[in-house]
Amino acid sequence: MRIAVLTSGGVAPGLNAAVRAVAQAAFHKSWEVLGVLDGYNGLMQGRFKPLGPHDLGDTVHRGGSMLGNARSREFSSEAGVNKAYERLRESDVEGLVVIGGGGSLAGGASLGGLGMPVVGIPATIDNDIAATDMAIGVDTALNTAVEALDRIKDSAYSHGRANVVKVLGRDCGYLALMSAIPGDAEAALVPEFEADPERLLELLKTAYERGKQHFIVVVSEGAEPSAEELVRYINEAGNTYDTDLTELDHLQSGGKPTAFDRILASRLGAEAVESLAEGESSKMIGLQGSELVRTPLPEALEGRRSMHYDMYRLVSILAGLPEPVTER
Ligand code: F6P
Repeated sequence: MRIAVLTSGGVAPGLNAAVRAVAQAAFHKSWEVLGVLDGYNGLMQGRFKPLGPHDLGDTVHRGGSMLGNARSREFSSEAGVNKAYERLRESDVEGLVVIGGGGSLAGGASLGGLGMPVVGIPATIDNDIAATDMAIGVDTALNTAVEALDRIKDSAYSHGRANVVKVLGRDCGYLALMSAIPGDAEAALVPEFEADPERLLELLKTAYERGKQHFIVVVSEGAEPSAEELVRYINEAGNTYDTDLTELDHLQSGGKPTAFDRILASRLGAEAVESLAEGESSKMIGLQGSELVRTPLPEALEGRRSMHYDMYRLVSILAGLPEPVTER
């Protein structure tokens, strides 16, 4: 049997560990593996690289993707999907493993609809795919954010400045909320709950009046108000505390994957091959509790991760402050 593997969409730490697991699990079955270069763009152009065990050494600890990643506009059209399907057929590929976020997995579902056996592996730092508790890359991105918050706190408490820290996550507040808890932030703004800037300003004043040494708000990139709007609002309010904006941006999508991400990637990659071997198609392999679960791709991409208000409130409880949210 010959399979192909590709990484697509935004970069997430652990992509290489997943490619390695897919390839090694396939070699274990004496299958051939083609690495697709540069995601769906490379697939439409038929750019395949046969992988051998020697290609996989020294990759598990590396961030980024050894195969190259891309976001492809052309592939989102019917013509693009057909083109990609033809390239797979011409190269006698009998199964495809897609490693990426929601958009990339939806692309895999389209190829599955044409008859190509496809298995998806969730890899996105946003953790916005509800059918898996964790996607590859989330744990590393969280640890990066927490380390950044620890460092920011050092200058925050020394200078008595307030800080707004913008984290990635698209329209999912998971990264912001989960980094605010261990990162000792005073508040988190996430797209799922609406926060009031006036209330935040009140919290800032209360915090400093009570002798707090820092005031850090972690803001998800999809939150309203946005990180930029919040900084402007606080600074224009003429209070005595200058507020700085730090954007973590791509710092979060790069870097050495944590042990958790490497283990997750290894388990999901091996299970993807197992699922193809059992003749399954259009499935996403996810983690639910400690179990690996196969969910039909279209179903896996439905719905939104729900955010528990209790978890959100924990940020304020830990900071000893009222919540910044008026509506939820
Ligand atoms: O979806 C993953 C993600 O890193 C988001 O958090 C972010 O909004 C986006 O991709 C960044 O895209 P790019 O890496 O193409 O700038």
